[in-house]
Amino acid sequence: MEQQTQQPQEKATLTLGDTVIELPVYIGTEGEKVIDINGIYDSYKLTTYDPSLSNTAVCRSKITYIDGDSGVLRYRGIPIEQFNQPGPNFIEVAWTLIFGRLPNTTELSDFRNRLTENELIHEGLRRQFNEIPPKSPPMAILSAMLSQLACYYEKFLPLGDDDLFIEAAARLISKARTIAAYSYRRSKGLPFNYPDPNLRYGANFLHMMFSIPHQQYVISEEVEDALNLILILHADHEQNCSTATVRVVGSARANLFASCAAGVSALWGPRHGGANVEVMKMLEDIHKGGLTPESCIEAAKDKTNPFLLYGFGHRVYKNYDPRAKVLKDACDKVFGMKHNKDPLLDIARKLEEIALKDPYFIERKLYPNVDFYSGILLRAMGIPTNMFTVIFAIGRLPGWIAQWKEQHDDTTQRIIRPRQLYEGNTISEYVPIEERNTDS
Ligand code: ACO
Repeated sequence: MEQQTQQPQEKATLTLGDTVIELPVYIGTEGEKVIDINGIYDSYKLTTYDPSLSNTAVCRSKITYIDGDSGVLRYRGIPIEQFNQPGPNFIEVAWTLIFGRLPNTTELSDFRNRLTENELIHEGLRRQFNEIPPKSPPMAILSAMLSQLACYYEKFLPLGDDDLFIEAAARLISKARTIAAYSYRRSKGLPFNYPDPNLRYGANFLHMMFSIPHQQYVISEEVEDALNLILILHADHEQNCSTATVRVVGSARANLFASCAAGVSALWGPRHGGANVEVMKMLEDIHKGGLTPESCIEAAKDKTNPFLLYGFGHRVYKNYDPRAKVLKDACDKVFGMKHNKDPLLDIARKLEEIALKDPYFIERKLYPNVDFYSGILLRAMGIPTNMFTVIFAIGRLPGWIAQWKEQHDDTTQRIIRPRQLYEGNTISEYVPIEERNTDS
């Protein structure tokens, strides 16, 4: 399917010395203006400098809209707050992101059935858990095993076929959950639980994580709903670091398994999805008395100290992350209902209160992001800290898949290959080792 290319609606002018360059300007559906600099290298040998791609639109997309100044996030046009009510579920959101609109009943039940049919992992893959050191990081296991799905499902690798795509996508979404639960079981030396086809997506994950022989884990509605909400809120976030990674890898025409495995690796980093683990470490440190909320804020402001206030700040949001807002409310609800206090929630609230009044955070527009409150909810469900980022990855898979599909459906997309500002040596000579001055 070829994307329709919008005609430029305005022009911008760039003047460099005597040269005047006219650049097309596109206008997105929410009114944002984007200057097209694509042709200026070929015509003028000019390159733009945008370190870390902070202000470069690398694709056209119809999946997710963010307004970072106002704290707005929409999936296929639907504000994420509308998914925070009884009814919407993660699988429905996954379908919506991937296929562009809300599914009808038949489409949703077909997709569910497809996921159920694919919930087991190949016994060969399962046996590999025996060879992995028991305490291996679950993100390393997830990335390696998603990549290995290509060994077991080679027939779904060819690109450009919608039927093969959906087979690969269903395997990824369904098996990621099984692989994640097995990595936890392995770390605990517990037998693996096969998935239960009668359970819904999140409940099945919790069953695989926590049921023990002769004692089925009882999944409360409250816990299942909270997990569903967390997965929905993580499902896509336009061109973030891991999604951009998936697109970079996918742009080389790498298959969906390889591209999503790369996304998991990017997400693992503490500046990205790994931040939820760092938040929990920080809150636990404060709780144990190693730090106070005040000293934590002071350390985060100290430029000689690498410490950051994890769960705060965002490349795009210069306002409260709308996902953090929903999660904070969910924490209030879960802990309010259970009359079951988590001291870490009080510490998180205190940190937020101090930070939001502090000129350092105000001037830099640093607000809580999605990782600030998600860990507290996951902890309330009994999820261990080292599984937090894995749950983020399971949630983000539909987004990666949707973005990969959109990229492959767009026949105008080329391999992603940024340029650089070279500041190294000019032409230099190779000197044989015996002739080199070792002092220099
Ligand atoms: N604690 C202390 N200072 C911070 C923080 C923080 N959490 N975040 C940003 N700052 C400071 C920066 O040091 C910088 O200060 P300066 O202007 O004096 O140099 C200023 O705020 C602007 O920040 P940037 O570095 O421009 O922010 P950037 O867009 O590069 O990074 C990021 C965004 C990586 C999220 C950053 O805010 C951060 O590291 N936060 C902590 C980690 C985290 O929570 N990551 C999860 C993000 S959400 C997600 O990926 C799912």
